[in-house]
Amino acid sequence: MLRAVVVAALALAASPAIAQDGAQLFNMQCRMCHSGSPMGPSLAGVAGGEIASKSFAYSPALKAKGGVWTDESLDAYLKAPTTFAPGTKMLVSVSNPTQRAAIIAYLKTLK
Ligand code: HEC
Repeated sequence: MLRAVVVAALALAASPAIAQDGAQLFNMQCRMCHSGSPMGPSLAGVAGGEIASKSFAYSPALKAKGGVWTDESLDAYLKAPTTFAPGTKMLVSVSNPTQRAAIIAYLKTLK
């Protein structure tokens, strides 16, 4: 709940540059697990790349998905991870569609 309020406030204050908004959201909600942390896989090249293909102890659920991360599948996963891949280890979701789009735009810049 508190996080939702903080994120809403951030969205109001954010600049129009969408990937830049995504960077801010990523820094607040994702970086702690996805930037060199053993808590989550690296997201470099994740957009357009194969699902669950990094050296990381993925859940069987995400490994079983197969295919590549598209805009659509990233959006579905971030909206409702446990619906997209029941049993996934990632429980963090982003309920706001505009924020999901901004985060996905930012993920595409991670090479
Ligand atoms: C508490 C730690 C944590 C946070 C915070 C977190 N994630 Fe994750 N993320 C994970 C874990 C763990 C996995 C692997 C899930 C699995 O194996 O089921 C994962 C997997 C992913 C994947 C798939 C990676 C691949 O190699 O296929 C994407 C994309 C992703 N996260 C994006 C995000 C985004 C965007 C955010 C911020 C909104 C975020 N994550 C926040 C822990 C986290």
